[in-house]
Amino acid sequence: MLAVNESETAGRFLMSMLMCWEDVEKDLIFFVMPLYPADLVTVLLKKEEIPMASRYQMCKELICALVALFHLGVVHKDIKPANILIGHDGRAVLTDFGNAAAVPTHDYATWKDYIRGGTYCYMAPEMVSADVRKVGYGTNVDVFSLGLVIMEIIGFCDGPFFHQRSLEGVRDEHANSGRLPIDSDKFLCTEEKFWEILPAMLQVDPEKRITAPQLEDKYVCSEEWTAVRDGSATHDWRPTVTLPVADVKDAARFLDFSLYSHARNRYGADPLEFEYCVPGVF
Ligand SMILES: Nc1ncnc2c1ncn2[C@@H]1O[C@H](COP(=O)(O)OP(=O)(O)O)[C@@H](O)[C@H]1O
Ligand SMILES: [Mg+2]
Repeated sequence: MLAVNESETAGRFLMSMLMCWEDVEKDLIFFVMPLYPADLVTVLLKKEEIPMASRYQMCKELICALVALFHLGVVHKDIKPANILIGHDGRAVLTDFGNAAAVPTHDYATWKDYIRGGTYCYMAPEMVSADVRKVGYGTNVDVFSLGLVIMEIIGFCDGPFFHQRSLEGVRDEHANSGRLPIDSDKFLCTEEKFWEILPAMLQVDPEKRITAPQLEDKYVCSEEWTAVRDGSATHDWRPTVTLPVADVKDAARFLDFSLYSHARNRYGADPLEFEYCVPGVF
């Protein structure tokens, strides 16, 4: 199981797991994660007024997340705004590893899979392709999906760039979008080198598409990205929308407290007490 510790540089931009346990009898696995106030899809839908500097910073944070995945040996396969959470401090973290696969870092460039996974409208063209079972796809499907998310963050499109619901519909959209989903001549993004990064991420041909290690060498390791990389860069913006939170009593009932003997010993036998104590402890 992959556990990402927030204190590690690699995990700063990925959801961290605080605790995890398994109920063998009920065949359930429980994860305890930090509670985030918002996700990117809600923030974008509600049209929050996010300054451009903060938008670009989020994009950089997510590129750092992609590089962190490479170092951990993980392909995410479902990068989209609903799987990006926004912290109280405005920072973006990548979450939902439900579709992810482990890929040893030394195999990252050559790894292939042949079974489609994720969300159609954020899939790379080679994953959308009818030939996927024959031709397969590599780890840089994540690069393409993040490129599409970045387009939304910087306001290039309102909602997903490819917005058909069916696989066939998205396949047609890809076929009609030409060499690149964006026309780089008309591309208005003049700041922060994104006019250069984005077309490289959105290359239709996976062989020509920039990879996570190349993004690291070219951008993440550069002087200009130091503050984002080391987590010292701050946002001038804070999310105002918040996600609904389950009632604490329901959450306590859902967590089968008797299974977690360590927590019981430490925080007392009352599940509600556990629920109240734990967030403060972390
Ligand atoms: N740690 C968290 N804090 C706040 N909201 C969360 C958290 N984890 C998930 N969510 C919310 O729940 C939604 C679904 O969670 P996710 O991990 O993406 O699972 P799945 O999509 O597989 O159901 C997310 O889009 C987000 O809105
Ligand atoms: Mg999800």
